[in-house]
Amino acid sequence: MKKALITGITGQDGSYLTEFLLDKGYEVHGIIRRGSTYNLGRIDAVLKNPKLYLQLYLHYGDLTDSTSLRKIIDEVRPDEVYNLGAQSHVKVSFDTPEYTADVVAIGTLRLLEAVRAHISMFNREVRIYQAGSSEMFGAAPPPQRESTEFYPRSPYAVSKVAGYWYAKNYRESYGMYIVNGILFNHESPRRGETFVTRKITRAVGRIKEGLQDKLFLGNLDAKRDWGFAGDYVEAMWLMLQQESPEDFVVATGVAHSVRDFLKEAFSYVNLNWEDYVEIDPKLFRPAEVDYLLGDPTKIKEKLNWEPKVSFKELVAMMVEHDWELAKREKALKEVGYTSALRGVTIG
Ligand code: NAP
Ligand code: GDD
Repeated sequence: MKKALITGITGQDGSYLTEFLLDKGYEVHGIIRRGSTYNLGRIDAVLKNPKLYLQLYLHYGDLTDSTSLRKIIDEVRPDEVYNLGAQSHVKVSFDTPEYTADVVAIGTLRLLEAVRAHISMFNREVRIYQAGSSEMFGAAPPPQRESTEFYPRSPYAVSKVAGYWYAKNYRESYGMYIVNGILFNHESPRRGETFVTRKITRAVGRIKEGLQDKLFLGNLDAKRDWGFAGDYVEAMWLMLQQESPEDFVVATGVAHSVRDFLKEAFSYVNLNWEDYVEIDPKLFRPAEVDYLLGDPTKIKEKLNWEPKVSFKELVAMMVEHDWELAKREKALKEVGYTSALRGVTIG
């Protein structure tokens, strides 16, 4: 049985990857952070499944704490490490640039060093997936592909560029099997609620059910290449199954604006987005990434990977999910239960 170690297991991608790897028969280990409230919601279904639960192990650790990383890697002895942990919100990275760099850039370096020490001590192969981002391309004109020069536009993106180069440097310097996946935006019903797609679909459900009047947003002109997270974790795994390590862009090859997303999501429940959306200047970023559109030719040709879920299907999946959540919220409200009631107002 192969062993995988995932940083960021409690995040959107970590949860889909966990299910994907468990399904393939892996023993999965995840690094979790202690929170003051329950933060295992996205992997709750796995934790409650008596069969899968026995294949899943959680370890307290942090990308800012090299002692914990080294200890976990030496104890687990993983075959594959997926570095998904990050302060992943672009706008928040302008408010917490130093912390973002510590987790995203230096955190990657800490993990690489921990694996390097483990390999030299135990003389075994450990393959590493590094979660790169299309944000690294930033202001570079579309379409962006593996050969496109990076032009990061936020502290988050600069830190991801550093992580990318650390990974590449360790591959070239020490012959380690490390791949950079350069993933374009990918979403799902498990997406964090302060990212624009989920913020919109949560609002659509709540507005439809009369629980919310308005949705405040920033720049509606930005364009993104949005895919489904469940499809993208397969690409991560495929990258680690090759004979030699290479970097890949993962994208759908189709871009839409935030305005397009709004139109699609509101019209799914027969509402006109223009009646509900207002612009809040606080939600604009100090520097914006205007247009991300990936060219997935390399991964299609070399790894035979294709996205399965279209933009329209993705929006429908997210709206359906969040409409159902809103219906439940409304039902609770009707019986006087209010603690679950809240709207997403930040991010
Ligand atoms: P996410 O939902 O924000 O999850 C981030 C994960 O990182 C969470 O499990 C979080 O733990 C963990 N984490 C945060 N700080 C940490 C720290 N100091 N030490 C250890 N773990 C920490 O992100 P995602 O959407 O799943 O994305 C996964 C990775 O892919 C991230 O590196 C992201 O930057 C990158 N990426 C994402 C996209 C996308 O469109 N989703 C595209 C390109 C690249 P808590 O639950 O405790 O907060
Ligand atoms: N979050 C948010 N909230 N974004 C908004 C809002 C709002 O109220 N209004 C407009 N936007 C615009 C942002 O300015 C941005 O241009 C676009 O919507 C997408 O924003 P996010 O959903 O926050 O995602 P992101 O593209 O900045 O970053 C995500 O994708 C990256 C890959 O390209 C994150 O998942 C990153 O971690 C990831 O690397």
